This record gives sequence, structure tokens and C-alpha cells, in this order.
Amino acid sequence: MNPWPPEGEAEGKGTKPVTLPRPGHADLAGSLKYGLADARDALERASARQTAVAVAAGAVAKALLAEIGIEVEGRVTGEDLEARIDEARAERDTVGGVVEVRARGVPPGLGSYASNEDRLDARLAGALMGIQAVKGAEIGEGFELAAKRGSEAHDEIFRDERGLYRETNHAGGIEGGVSNGEEIVVRAGMKPLPTLMRPLASVDLDTGEPAEALVERSDVAAVEALAVVAEAAVAFELARAAREKFGGDALGDFVSAHRAYVERIDWSPR
Ligand SMILES: Cc1cc2nc3c(=O)[nH]c(=O)nc-3n(C[C@H](O)[C@H](O)[C@H](O)COP(=O)(O)O)c2cc1C
Repeated sequence: MNPWPPEGEAEGKGTKPVTLPRPGHADLAGSLKYGLADARDALERASARQTAVAVAAGAVAKALLAEIGIEVEGRVTGEDLEARIDEARAERDTVGGVVEVRARGVPPGLGSYASNEDRLDARLAGALMGIQAVKGAEIGEGFELAAKRGSEAHDEIFRDERGLYRETNHAGGIEGGVSNGEEIVVRAGMKPLPTLMRPLASVDLDTGEPAEALVERSDVAAVEALAVVAEAAVAFELARAAREKFGGDALGDFVSAHRAYVERIDWSPR
């Protein structure tokens, strides 16, 4: 017996087709791209529920990184988030926000300056921008650096009995696409969620008439969830870069290669 389509759904999905695309979601672009009569086929596939699997993979990546002393932690940076969410909920609106992920204990040398796609900054930015609703990614001070002078922007290099060190970390732990031994600091900016309980203007794709966008169950904000998802995405990329550097088919060898390397370059986390 052919298992698809499920019984009773051969003529339809049992739900009313979505023809009222929400500005900011995948509804319109997805419907146009695939010629869909029901935007639900696009919106469900575009849904951030997909991030659950990325968080699971991130947990495995974090366990691997912990074996070589790397810790990854995400947090929300906006202090007034709770109040902003309450206000938005009362006005049937949505909000976005900014999250930051820090990775401590990353040795110098992950990533590469030799090709664009191997640069650690590009990979981390790509991983963050790959998360639904993330529209900006920053490494270190990111856009703020553009307004600074070189003398204020770059992290001077010093040496003491413990080795090389920096007193500042404007670069967010990456120079030349390669980790430099300082803490990795990245940020992601999330736009306000597209499903509003007070719907925005749209067009009914069935009739071509002006209409209000689809309203369905949705959150007011997902910034706290993004902190978890972004942490997982960063951990996953760092674990990939660490495997490239230290090998990846046996944990003991991975740990030994890391130990030999940090001894050779005389590096230990501060
Ligand atoms: C953790 C998380 C939860 C989300 N929850 C919602 C939600 O409840 N309602 C909504 O409209 N969008 C939500 N989004 C955003 C949409 O998935 C996203 O805006 C949509 O897929 C379109 O992709 P784009 O914003 O990257 O263009 C969420 C995103 C994330 C990362």
C-alpha cells in the first residue's frame, strides 16, 4: 500500500488552504516559487520547528567541545525584553531582539584565511543567518568597528610569563578568518516575528483582492529560544572546525591532537 498521501487526505489536507500571505514569512515567496495554491506547504516547511533538530545536534557538538575545554553559551542581550514583550502582546504585535553567543577556551587556529568559505567568521555568520528570522550577524564589535579608528579598533598584542595575550577583544576572537585564542563573541539580530494577531495588509492570492494576512497561533517573541538555537549553531560550527584541525574519527585521538597542538604553540586559555 502506498503510504502517501495519508488516508483521507488524497483530495486535500483537511485544512483550509492558506491564501493570505503574511509579510515577513515564507508564505508569498514560497507560493510563487513553487506555484502553490496552499501557502501552508511553504510555511510549515519554513517553520522554525526545524531548529529543534539543530539544538539536538548542538548538544552533541557541545559535548565534543567540552572534551577539549571549550564552553559555548548563548544569552539574550536586551535588558528590557520582558517589558517589550508584554507591551507588544497587549497591542497584538510582535518583537525581535539580539542574542549573543560566547565561546571560551577556543585555541588559536580554527578556521582558515585561505578561502572565503573556510573563514571561521564567515562560517559562524552563515550559521547564525541560517536561523529563521535572523537578519544580522556580527563578529566581535562588528558594525561598531566601522566607525572606529584602527588605533581604537584593534587588539594590541602583549606577552607575559604565561604567553601572548590581548587586553581587549574588539575582534571577537577571530582575525584573518582564524580563531586567535581570545573568547569568540558573536551576535545575531532577530526581526519581529511575522505572525501578528493584528494582521498586516496582504492580498488574497485566490481572488487577487486586498485582504488581511493570515492569523494563527503564534508567539509574541522568540528571542529567548533564539539564544538556545544560536548557541547550538555556533557550537556545531566550532565542533566542525575543531574536527578539521584535530581529526574526527576517534575521540581519544581528537583530544590528544588538541593537547599536542596547544603544547606546541604554548597556549592555554586565560
Ligand atoms: C525559535 C524561533 C521561533 C519562531 N517562532 C515563530 C512564531 O511563533 N511565529 C512566527 O510568525 N514566526 C516565528 N519564527 C520566525 C519564522 O520562522 C521566520 O520568520 C520565517 O520562517 C521566515 O523566515 P525569515 O524570517 O528568515 O525570512 C520563529 C523563529 C525562530 C528562530
